[in-house]
Amino acid sequence: MNISVNYSGDYNQLLTSELESKLKAIHKGIHTKSAEGAEYLGWVDWPSTINQEFLEDIKETAKHIRSTSDVLVVIGIGGSYLGSKAVIEALSTPFKKQTDLEVIFAGHLVSGEYLKELITYLDNKEVTLNIISKSGTTTEPAIAFRFLQQYMEKRYGDQATSRIFVTTDEEKGALRSLAIEKGYRRFVVPGNIGGRYSVFTAVGLLPIAAAGYDIEKLINGAKIAEQEFGVFDTKSNSAIQYAVIRNHLYNTGYPVEIMATFDEKLTYVQEWWKQLFGESEGKEGKGIFPASVLYSTDLHSLGQYIQDGKRMLFESFLMVKSVPSDLMVFEAENNGDELNYLSGLSLHEFNMACHEATATAHLDGGVPQLTITIEQLDEQHIGHLLYFYMMACAFSSYLLDINPFDQPGVEDYKTNIFKILKKPGY
Ligand code: PA5
Repeated sequence: MNISVNYSGDYNQLLTSELESKLKAIHKGIHTKSAEGAEYLGWVDWPSTINQEFLEDIKETAKHIRSTSDVLVVIGIGGSYLGSKAVIEALSTPFKKQTDLEVIFAGHLVSGEYLKELITYLDNKEVTLNIISKSGTTTEPAIAFRFLQQYMEKRYGDQATSRIFVTTDEEKGALRSLAIEKGYRRFVVPGNIGGRYSVFTAVGLLPIAAAGYDIEKLINGAKIAEQEFGVFDTKSNSAIQYAVIRNHLYNTGYPVEIMATFDEKLTYVQEWWKQLFGESEGKEGKGIFPASVLYSTDLHSLGQYIQDGKRMLFESFLMVKSVPSDLMVFEAENNGDELNYLSGLSLHEFNMACHEATATAHLDGGVPQLTITIEQLDEQHIGHLLYFYMMACAFSSYLLDINPFDQPGVEDYKTNIFKILKKPGY
């Protein structure tokens, strides 16, 4: 399994001895769990230390949910839903089969219309809920849960209890108390793993397994990544390479990174990545602003800005080497659309050519480039990729002397909303 990072500049030139020493210290801090924010470094060796009994439990629970439900509603926000959404979207086929269990997300936004429509949609289907909140006190998912819990109780009576699964902290939070009071089955978010680093815990695994995907393979990919990126070698460790390149670009006038893909299935990997890097790094007036585009559609939209607008952007392509199925352009008899020059070309090959053309054009336009390539989109490669980004994000944040694991800025809007809405105590 391999993730390659290709940079338009000269990577080796960036590796001064001062930087090498800083990277070595960061590596040590992460792996000996002594870096700033060490109490949240539990994700680093989580894949290799994951308990097989726990995995079996998740798989059994998912099997039970699949056999009793048409829909699993996952309620959560931020790190409590983006990881599972990213993996499920990346592995799903574009048009879902009727027989599949459908995973629907709620609580990531507040909308009466959304919840009303969702409840109507659920009405003739068998439903299970999984509410996920590490703190157990986040307002948006709590609001959604209040409505959906009431719906389940009205619809299933006493049986609702066995259709509600709670993923939260082991020791604290309102959701934990509620789950104990109601007798809901609980899964734990480990105390030493923060929300946006929690995709390989029950937070991500239960929804992913319920959607029908192989969590053993996902974890195996992460395990391979843990071993690979655990080795301190600035020449071959692609997580370190990515962190070094983006840090160099940031320090030389490029504070915005645009992640570009050619595959709609990766849209939520981009959303997960934006949350991971934005919430980890964007502090103390520092940090790269993470943005994303989907090509070709955005070549006819933001592409203009990227090519020609204010020069502050660098672009990181996320490319997948091989696709599960493809089409080849065929020779048309009358060539009315004048596309016969493409005959014999697969649509994947078209995207590869488009990547080359776009990268060259944007580079000429003053946008530095890097391309991250993975071999294919399956559980193992996605597990590997997500761990790669988590490790790169930790390095990247520490290079800026930022603690990657807190999010003090998120609290400000919360305090204000509590004041506006007169929450007791505010
Ligand atoms: O990464 C994080 O820690 C955050 O994005 C949280 O996941 C998000 O705020 C949701 O928090 P909670 O799971 O406590 O409801």
